[in-house]
Amino acid sequence: MDKKKLINKYDKQVSIYENNLNNSTLNNWRRQIIKDAYGKVMEVGVGVGANFPYYDKDKVTEITGVDFSTKMIESAQETALKYNVNADFINHDISTIRLEVNSYDSIVSTLTLCSYPDPVDTLNKFNSWCKKGGTILLMEHGLSTNPLLSMAMKGINPLYNRISGCHCNRNIVKLVEKSNLKIERIDRFWSGIFVLVWARPTKS
Ligand SMILES: C[S@@+](CC[C@H](N)C(=O)[O-])C[C@H]1O[C@@H](n2cnc3c(N)ncnc32)[C@H](O)[C@@H]1O
Repeated sequence: MDKKKLINKYDKQVSIYENNLNNSTLNNWRRQIIKDAYGKVMEVGVGVGANFPYYDKDKVTEITGVDFSTKMIESAQETALKYNVNADFINHDISTIRLEVNSYDSIVSTLTLCSYPDPVDTLNKFNSWCKKGGTILLMEHGLSTNPLLSMAMKGINPLYNRISGCHCNRNIVKLVEKSNLKIERIDRFWSGIFVLVWARPTKS
């Protein structure tokens, strides 16, 4: 999908994501993974700031949230104020942004790998932005490990993509395995549709 159209689509979905701030299932998963972020954090595709309540303020020194949707960032700024989170924001496309290498202790991505045109390339950027020994924390949705569900997801993907702007036919674990990241732990939920992935960068 054309980038301008995609940004417009996400701009219009702000209220849906604001309502999702109360989604107890998602929040339970967010709680499990976001608590492991520490130091200088880069949160990609920050949306309305749904992870902000779950950062450990004793471990996190600063958060930079990136999103190409101005409306999402405006909403995330309010969430940061509400939860007293020290965050700044960059309104930019993650696929083209230039950030200093080895500059973040933690890279956080929740529900964003479904959107990027080249998710492996983006994961490799996480690898490059993350400091040696740092952590990459993912909470993503994609193809189920159940063959029937997986077949159905592949079938509905073109319609799903037209409506939501994202893809439901991506095998998230395989994408991470293809990237330079080193997986340390994977937790799967809902027949593998949702995954939590703890990973580390590989540095030469
Ligand atoms: C499905 S929402 C998830 C939002 C949030 N991370 C969460 O967990 O609720 C995807 C977010 O990624 C942003 N996004 C998608 N593709 C992007 C890109 N290429 N560059 C920057 N932001 C992007 C969208 O604007 C949207 O806010």
